[in-house]
Formats: sequence, C-alpha cells, structure tokens
Amino acid sequence: MKIGILGSGDVAKTLGSGFLKHGYEVMLGTRTASKLADWQKQNAKARVGSFADTAQFGELVVLAVKGTAAVDSLNAAGPRNLDGKTVIDATNPIAEAPPVNGVLKFFTGPDESLLERLQAQCKDAHFVKAFNSVGSACMVNPQFKGGKPTMFICGNNAKSKQGVAAILDRFGWETADMGAAEAARAIEPLCILWCIPGFLRNDWVHAFKLLS
Ligand SMILES: NC(=O)c1ccc[n+]([C@@H]2O[C@H](COP(=O)([O-])OP(=O)(O)OC[C@H]3O[C@@H](n4cnc5c(N)ncnc54)[C@H](OP(=O)(O)O)[C@@H]3O)[C@@H](O)[C@H]2O)c1
Repeated sequence: MKIGILGSGDVAKTLGSGFLKHGYEVMLGTRTASKLADWQKQNAKARVGSFADTAQFGELVVLAVKGTAAVDSLNAAGPRNLDGKTVIDATNPIAEAPPVNGVLKFFTGPDESLLERLQAQCKDAHFVKAFNSVGSACMVNPQFKGGKPTMFICGNNAKSKQGVAAILDRFGWETADMGAAEAARAIEPLCILWCIPGFLRNDWVHAFKLLS
C-alpha cells in the first residue's frame, strides 16, 4: 500500500521510516524538499514530493504538519486528491502562545476540534485521528515496561478506522475507538496532558493506557 505523508518534521520522518520498515511504499510531502535530504539518504526507498504530489501518491494519507498550517497544507495538497481516502490526522491545534506552567494552549475551544474543521474542509476524505497523543520517538513499536500502550482514535468512517487499527497493531499499539469525529474534542487535548511531564521534568517517554 502507498502511504503519502504530508509533512517534513519529526512526526512525518518517524512515521515515514516506520511505514517503510513495515513494507509500505512511502512519499513525504513538503514545500522544501531539501529539508528532507538527510532523511532520504537514510531511507533510500522513500520518495519526496510536494504536498499535492504526496496526496496524489498516497492510497492512505497522513497529515503531519503544524496545527496552525493544517488548513493551508490541505489546500496545497488539493482536497480532491484526498477524496475517498483515509487520512490519518496526527496534528494538534497548538497555539503560538507559550505553555503556562507546562500546559499548552490550543487555538480551538472545548466544543470543537481541528479534526472536525479538516473533515468539513475535505468532505469526501475519511479523517481518523491517531498518533497525536504521544511523542514522535514513541510512535513506532515502542517498548514500555507497562506493556502495550493505547492509541485513542476517532472518525466518521468505520472502514477507515479498521484500516488504521490494523496499522496501529503493526506499530505495536492497541486501539481504543472513541467514536465519531466529535470525539477529537477529547482526544486532541490528550496532547496537552502528555506534554506536561516533558515541560515540567523533561520526561518525554510515556504513553497512555486504557485499563478495564
Ligand atoms: N513532535 C511530536 O512529537 C508530535 C507528537 C504528536 C503529534 N504532533 C503533531 O504533529 C504535527 C507535526 O509535528 P512535527 O513536530 O513533526 O512538525 P511541526 O514542526 O509541527 O510541523 C512541520 C510541518 O509543518 C509544515 N508547515 C509549517 N508551517 C506551514 C505553513 N505556513 N504552510 C504549510 N505548511 C507548513 C511544514 O511544512 P514544510 O515541510 O513545507 O516546511 C512541515 O512539514 C503537529 O501538528 C504536532 O502538533 C507532534
């Protein structure tokens, strides 16, 4: 399966290498391909292109850009290039303002989410929130003393969520499906909680687990 990843930051590079490791074909999308020269040397089978090239290439697309740039990035990718495709949304709506006592600020309010805005922007794509509630270093086959971590996901298309859950299984995660797009109002703020130990104690190695 061909995976198009919109982004050139740590998340895009980590997931790109992870998908390659698991046998997928990968293209990363950026406005400035030279940013990815080193990564491409280390990941010789990967391709690099524009946002639009990458959205066209991907049978499944991952959105891994700065939250404030998500809407513009999807416009550059071409919403029609995403029609009918699963889009894993790893973004968080982090505002430009600095954190307060380690607590990040979001540019969204409690009764909305970035995923819902993006789903409204690209009506015929199938957005699935995933990978937003853990640091990039722990995204692919992480090893925790406490066992397999839980990835909280949501989205409006059941088949897309099943496909994402299969990927998460290969990437060493158990999946907790929290329902439709509105659940992103609860899943996106997990990023704020996840980052607090990092900002306060420089502890960036942990993940959430749902117990029952
Ligand atoms: N870092 C983590 O550990 C982590 C963990 C979970 C979730 N996330 C979320 O994942 C996303 C990616 O995070 P990241 O740390 O990998 O990278 P980032 O620094 O947040 O974002 C880099 C990407 O954003 C794009 N971008 C920035 N400004 C833009 C603009 N004005 N127009 C279009 N594109 C623009 C860049 O495009 P170009 O390539 O063209 O420069 C680049 O691909 C974020 O939403 C973040 O909140 C991050």
